[in-house]
Amino acid sequence: MTPALNYRLAGVMGWPVAHSRSPLIHTHWIEQQGLNGAYVLLPVRPDHLAVALRSLPVLGFAGCNLTIPHKVAAISLVDRVDPVAQRIGAINTVVVEPDQSLTGLNTDGFGYIQSLIDAQPAWQADAGPITVLGAGGAARAVLVALIDAGAREIRLANRSGAKAHDMAQEFGNAIEVVPWEERNDAMAGIALLVNTTSLGMHGQAALDVRLDQLPAHALVSDIVYVPLETPLLTEARKRGNPTVNGLGMLLNQARPAFEAWFGVPPTLTPELLSKVRATF
Ligand code: ATR
Repeated sequence: MTPALNYRLAGVMGWPVAHSRSPLIHTHWIEQQGLNGAYVLLPVRPDHLAVALRSLPVLGFAGCNLTIPHKVAAISLVDRVDPVAQRIGAINTVVVEPDQSLTGLNTDGFGYIQSLIDAQPAWQADAGPITVLGAGGAARAVLVALIDAGAREIRLANRSGAKAHDMAQEFGNAIEVVPWEERNDAMAGIALLVNTTSLGMHGQAALDVRLDQLPAHALVSDIVYVPLETPLLTEARKRGNPTVNGLGMLLNQARPAFEAWFGVPPTLTPELLSKVRATF
């Protein structure tokens, strides 16, 4: 057998990138499926991003993931951008096409929705109002995905109100802006609460929010995954609400990218979950 036959390379470009769990996830799938290939760390400085992306086809890569700080900059450096990624305004995945051109995708929103479905298979976006906290880059992927999944009433609260208003203008009627000071009242009657701010992340202050008006059945999700259980999720769990941590989004965003590069759909097994959990 020729080792180079069907050998496929992929990787993650970031700066810094050493912390990324993506090599663990994709390498697990490459081995599990018995594929011939590798997924590597690609430390790429921001001023080298354009040349690094153009090097992918030259070096025989099937594509790559993009992480901080490249997700927004890369959108104007690829040859075509998927419409969902265009609306999100960022790409997290690049696919090298057979003609060597580059297509940009954003699988973060898919990953987010899939993490909710993994936790609650009957989850529906239109089951009730949704409160989203935060209006940064991560919120864009979550909002686009929720709207595309059929959410009809999204209450958006952000410390800087202007950013929330800009997003409501951009993403349309489903979004109603709630002043940050009134975020606790935005818990009344909702079916889903999402934290997309960086609060609650290791080394950061906890999210300052009261859950006393939150219905007992409301799903509480946090896209932060370090720690796996943020103070928000601890509080929600203690009062009996179902919770979803950020690990599901991390794992699920990797699935469409893997399939695009390696041609086979990967599966999320308990074994992979415990491998990733062990890194925290
Ligand atoms: P990401 O790409 O992770 O979304 P980001 O674009 O920097 O990162 O957005 C961070 C989010 O966390 C923003 O919604 C930010 O609020 P502002 O838009 O007002 O900056 C929110 N955030 C960060 N620190 C915060 C704090 N101390 N209190 C409230 N919100 C905070």
